[in-house]
Amino acid sequence: MNSPELKRDDFFLIISSCMDKTNLDEIKRIITSLKNIATELISEDGNNILIKTDNAIIEYSYKLIQKEFEQILNTRTIERTKYYLNRLLKSLSVQKEGKINDLNLNRWKEYDDIITDSLWIFDKRDTSGMHKAGYWGNFIPQIPNQLLRRFTKKGEWVLDPFLGSGTTLIECKRLGRNGVGVELIKQVANTTESNVMREKNPFKVNTKVVSGNSAAIDYKPLLKKLKMNSFQFVIMHPPYWDIIKFSDNKDDLSNAKSTQDFLGMFKKVADNIYPLLDKGRYCAVVIGDKYSAGEWIPLGFYVMQEMMNKGFKLKSTIIKNFDQTTAKRNQKELWRYRALAGGFYIFKHEYIFLFQK
Ligand SMILES: C[S@@+](CC[C@H](N)C(=O)[O-])C[C@H]1O[C@@H](n2cnc3c(N)ncnc32)[C@H](O)[C@@H]1O
Repeated sequence: MNSPELKRDDFFLIISSCMDKTNLDEIKRIITSLKNIATELISEDGNNILIKTDNAIIEYSYKLIQKEFEQILNTRTIERTKYYLNRLLKSLSVQKEGKINDLNLNRWKEYDDIITDSLWIFDKRDTSGMHKAGYWGNFIPQIPNQLLRRFTKKGEWVLDPFLGSGTTLIECKRLGRNGVGVELIKQVANTTESNVMREKNPFKVNTKVVSGNSAAIDYKPLLKKLKMNSFQFVIMHPPYWDIIKFSDNKDDLSNAKSTQDFLGMFKKVADNIYPLLDKGRYCAVVIGDKYSAGEWIPLGFYVMQEMMNKGFKLKSTIIKNFDQTTAKRNQKELWRYRALAGGFYIFKHEYIFLFQK
């Protein structure tokens, strides 16, 4: 084994050949030499090694393969060694696909940037490409990014009925998902459309921005035009009632007259999207609570209940950290005083409720 190419070609075969060996010390000697050789197979980005398997050249995390080798070297019995070897071989060569995403569960240890905890803390917004922080009330791109990777496959269809500045559709383009977004305010929809169209489209997906009221829009003609029948994921980020007023339009959820009115308007949107989502697939609602007349209004939980009444199964309640709006940030001292004097806490979180149909 002289050149990296030769080592790359042999790497997988040598690991496979260990499965036939009966001498534990011999296996460990081989694994130790592979562990050293792995350094020479590191790709240009410095994180992965390139290995030739039976039918492909694959990238595998250098750090992870070293950990796997370590685990094998620390075993005491041949049975345990072969168990780990077999697991490693599978993760290198067998694709174990999820039903609702493209994650290979045989390589789940590599997805260390995919969150599985119910507390999401982001310190910075992704501002790359066409993602702009300017639209007041937009969510950070990491939210759709995380959700799309876990709950959709490439080429599937995603619906966002409260599109705003189009964060979801930009992520759809980056991740190779087709997307439809509905935005009530025509002018916002137009600006969003031109921004979204300027985002690169490496996977050649379809992206459609529609201006209309999500509670009333008839999706059938649109779906027919797009030559599809249903969506595989829906992400809803409605106004948090009147915390931010988006327009004077009476159909705008931020103009609801009361909590009941807001929930009634939200329910109509949920009713309208429900038949469009495939059974067994997921819908996420991103929402926060509000504070009014000395009382905490649990808007998030009310909306969660609406979704459950509709027949959705609640799968997770995620708490995400939330940066105060610019207005509140400028009055930080004042709000701190108000909180101390008024016996309440200042909002620093919002919810991502995850449902399955
Ligand atoms: C919280 S923002 C969504 C922001 C979006 N996630 C983003 O990243 O830009 C809510 C959006 O819903 C829109 N909206 C309010 N009522 C609506 C309705 N009935 N149908 C469609 N859009 C509506 C508002 O104009 C606003 O742009």
